[in-house]
Amino acid sequence: MERLDKLLANRSALSRKEAGEALRLGRVRVDGEVVRDGTRKLDPALHSVTLDGEPIRSELHLYLMMHKPAGYVTSTEERGQPTVLELLPPEIAAFSPFPAGRLDKETEGLLLLTTDGDFCHRVISPKTGIPRRYFLRAADPLLPEDGMALAKGAVLADGTVCKPAVLRIGEDDREAEITVWEGKYHEVRRLIASRGNKVIYLKRLSIGGLLLDPQLPPGACRELTKTEITSIFERISPENEISVKKTKSF
Ligand code: URA
Repeated sequence: MERLDKLLANRSALSRKEAGEALRLGRVRVDGEVVRDGTRKLDPALHSVTLDGEPIRSELHLYLMMHKPAGYVTSTEERGQPTVLELLPPEIAAFSPFPAGRLDKETEGLLLLTTDGDFCHRVISPKTGIPRRYFLRAADPLLPEDGMALAKGAVLADGTVCKPAVLRIGEDDREAEITVWEGKYHEVRRLIASRGNKVIYLKRLSIGGLLLDPQLPPGACRELTKTEITSIFERISPENEISVKKTKSF
């Protein structure tokens, strides 16, 4: 037997607080009846629990952050290439998590893995508009004009028009942080190429409000806390990023 509020928090991407709120708002049904009392105990194998009409899964989901090292692909279909899944310890691999989003083979940094397809969809959907922040090193110096062009929305070599991106050039002008809101294929490399420059090193630092854990060594992964899962969906618009840029030095 499990408490309803705990069951919701454990088996969905909702935090305990959000689960309580969903109950209060009448979004949760047990065997078709609205239940607002989170302390109600039930056996999830015997009762059907729905949130907004969608069944809550009977199995528990995994939400992981990995510090992806260079040299591994995130696609599970590229045969013959080492994949990030090979880095998972067997007790985690047994649950068959998959990457929620992709990084190029040579890109390092924050990668999310999960067993929850809905969560994966929310993370990668351009509609959710989650910002992704990267550290990059370029072959040639980055110029203030590059930042201005990317802030307006760069046009890629194939004519694709990108949403505004924020470029913060470092003291070493070959280094920068870049924030993008779209998640297009090779987006950062193509944005920098559109300025006649080349990315020679790329590392993802954050997704939404979730930062790569500095204690996590390359190749390692760990489960996310509920607060961390929620922080992924924090809204940071390009305008807010630009005002942060004005007040913080890189
Ligand atoms: N943009 C890229 O070009 N590559 C990545 O791996 C991620 C974002």
